This record gives sequence, C-alpha cells and structure tokens, in this order.
Amino acid sequence: MNAGRHLANLALIGFMGTGKTSVGRLVADQLRFEFLDTDDLIETRSGKAINDIFSQNGESAFRQLECDLVEELSSVRQTVISTGGGLPVSPANLDSLKQHALVVCLWSSPEKIFERVRDQSHRPLLQSPDPLARIRSLLATREPFYKRADVLINSEFRSIREVAQQVILQFRLATGQK
Ligand code: S3P
Repeated sequence: MNAGRHLANLALIGFMGTGKTSVGRLVADQLRFEFLDTDDLIETRSGKAINDIFSQNGESAFRQLECDLVEELSSVRQTVISTGGGLPVSPANLDSLKQHALVVCLWSSPEKIFERVRDQSHRPLLQSPDPLARIRSLLATREPFYKRADVLINSEFRSIREVAQQVILQFRLATGQK
C-alpha cells in the first residue's frame, strides 16, 4: 500500500462535522507534530471567512485556493493536516496528499453529522432550508472520493480521544513504528 511513498505527514479527510479538526489537534499533540487546518489557512491568507469567499468569489474560487494550498503542502513534514470536507473531491488533491501523507478518513452517518453541525453557521454549503437532506445528498456524492483514503475510521460512536488513538495506531502501523 505504501510502496514508493514517504509518509512524513498525516492527513485527515471526511465530511463536515466528522471531527477532523478536534481529532487532528489531539493527534498532532500526541505525535508532537505540527497541526495545520486548510480552512483556517485559507481564511488567514485571504483575510476572509469561508462564508465570504463563497458569497463574494464563488465556490470555484474557494476550490482553487484549496488546490493551490494542497500543492504547497508537499513540502511540509511532521504535520497533521486537517482538510476541508470538499477537498478530496478533486482527485488531484487526494493524489497529491497521498504522496507524502497517510490519508485517514473520518466517517459518520448523515444524522450524526446533522446533530453536530445544526447550531453552526460557518458552513456555506449547509445553509439550506433542509440541511439534513443536503448532508445526505452531498455525502452520497462524495462517498467514492472519501473511500479512496488509506484508512477509514468511524467517528460516530467514539469520543474524540478514542478516534485520535485509532488514528495514531494506524499511522504507527503504516510507518512501521511500534
Ligand atoms: C466544505 C467543508 C468545510 C469548508 C467549506 C466547504 C465542504 O470544511 O471547507 O465550508 O465542501 O464540505 P469542514 O469540513 O472543515 O467543515
């Protein structure tokens, strides 16, 4: 699975609300890695909230910022990279991450995701009259892309700490560490 790859980093992919950022921070802490969140970096660099990028420049402009950032990430080392939920929909993004990172996907059901995100307003794609239906349809469309991850972990029934432990275990197995 890892032939020709140098797994210097760990990337977390998955739908909004599956715990990528919280788990990623904990994993980075425990591995003594840096932590980087693609959404945060895009917001900092553009000086705009993601909602504003979507409303002022459009989703395609945001996707381009993601692609540009993913290219840059090939030079980071010992970093946990938490990605925006739509980033792996571009196959080139996932291919690029796989060159240098073990890619772990966090997975939850639409109902659980809805429960986690229902009171939040910073995700433009969920500002819909029926967010649960939107989650179901987006998740169904994205499932084949998420399933290209090296490892799939169900985060629905586990605490953040338990998911982080699973992620670390998988990283240690993949990199041959005890
Ligand atoms: C998006 C997910 C968000 C953010 C943007 C678009 C998506 O990131 O990148 O709102 O397309 O699923 P999180 O998954 O961190 O919420």
